[in-house]
Amino acid sequence: MRAHTGLAPVIKPRRGRPLTGSVERLRIHGGFRLTGEVSVSGGKNAALAIIPAALLADSPCTIENLPDIDDVHILMEMLTWLGADAVFEDGVMTIDPRPVNRFDPPYSLTSRMRASYYLVPVLLGRFGRANVPYPGGCDIGSRPIDLTIKALRALGAELDNQHGTLIASAGQMRGSEVFLDFPSVGATINAMLTAVNAPGATTIINAAKEPHVVDVANFLGSMGAYIKGAGTNVIRIRGGRPLSGSTYTIIPDQIETGTLMIAAAATGGDVTIRGAIPTHMESLSVKLLEMGVEVRDMDDVIQIRGGPLRPVNIKTQVYPGFPTDLQQPTTAMLSLVRGTSVVTETIFESRYRYIEELQRMGANIRVMDRTAMVEGVTRLTGAPVMASDLRAGAALIIAGLIAEGTTEIQGTQYIDRGYEHIEVKLRGLGARMERVNVPLGYNG
Ligand code: EPZ
Repeated sequence: MRAHTGLAPVIKPRRGRPLTGSVERLRIHGGFRLTGEVSVSGGKNAALAIIPAALLADSPCTIENLPDIDDVHILMEMLTWLGADAVFEDGVMTIDPRPVNRFDPPYSLTSRMRASYYLVPVLLGRFGRANVPYPGGCDIGSRPIDLTIKALRALGAELDNQHGTLIASAGQMRGSEVFLDFPSVGATINAMLTAVNAPGATTIINAAKEPHVVDVANFLGSMGAYIKGAGTNVIRIRGGRPLSGSTYTIIPDQIETGTLMIAAAATGGDVTIRGAIPTHMESLSVKLLEMGVEVRDMDDVIQIRGGPLRPVNIKTQVYPGFPTDLQQPTTAMLSLVRGTSVVTETIFESRYRYIEELQRMGANIRVMDRTAMVEGVTRLTGAPVMASDLRAGAALIIAGLIAEGTTEIQGTQYIDRGYEHIEVKLRGLGARMERVNVPLGYNG
């Protein structure tokens, strides 16, 4: 009889399809330094906007460097439901938008990701109509879409929210001035996707500058759109030009890159990250340097050498400030750094729920409104924990890597939405990590 290790019996799963009566978990045995080389996948948030944008073309598009993550598969399901011909293999998706013959994707599909609202301007551009149910809030906040509605109305669209469905019709679409009260990523992208089909000149003021906003603009440009200024807070578009299919390679994932950098630093490792864009990572690199981490970058490579870490203060901002999506994994790393670190989340109103799980592992963190006071402890201990959203999952992975003992993370369906084969990549760096199925009701 096997000694009772306190661990559930392991049933080897196929990714993402837990056996009936069981639940999938990521199991991590902590305490191992990460060393070696790892490559970054294509950007999730770039992909989620560029794939729908391909429907604006009058001929097939080929999109390269797409990550094999669940959100990309869900989006492809939506495009297929609308009638597009789409094939996704080895990171390359070809999309023929010509057979698209529907403008009303069902809630069962759109509710699975917020990015489904990018279909509104795209279907408006193709059909002059769009009926898109949009998801409400999620674990990190209410996530309204008022700025998207304001932008589309400024460009002449008529929009009504009926029972959680955005009913849009193209009134007199025309170029206009679009002022965003907040540099919202989603609203900036939706404004661009609408303006390329609104004849005349559009100026988006107070635009978001995130790398994936620039990537969407570059993709639209590759299709023949006139877009200038992406990456600054003023984007100028001349709409109404025909858009033809193109071949486009999306940028690497800024947040996956950052998560790998944090994992290397937190474990005191020595990791070389390939296929990254160092300039996208500057806000994190500077903070890691402040913490005493060795950060070197050249061309598309970032090298991280961890050592004794110093506490720092983090305040999330819009790009090029510290990304809100890296707040959670960074806080997990800081929970084991002697001294006091102060983390302030300025972008989302409730992005701290994961801290309850870190506290169960021994972290000493007090949350007051949007600020987390992190008192470094001498050790975290492994535990069964629950990821409540994608980046909370990343935080729990970091915590599991540096905790003593074994951590089992439930909620892999969130993690797989945004990280391509994360356990394979981290195992390649020496992490003791595997995907297991645990019988339902097992309390370990
Ligand atoms: C994008 O979300 C990303 N998602 C998020 O990444 C990311 O955290 C966020 O940008 C900020 O960088 C995708 O790109 C698919 P916002 P988005 O509009 O577009 C408020 C991840 O983990 N707001 O810039 O929804 C909003 O409530 C995800 O990959 C309005 O008030 O972000 C929030 O407080 C999580 N009205 C703030 O602005 C609006 O109409 C930032 O939102 C829109 C937003």
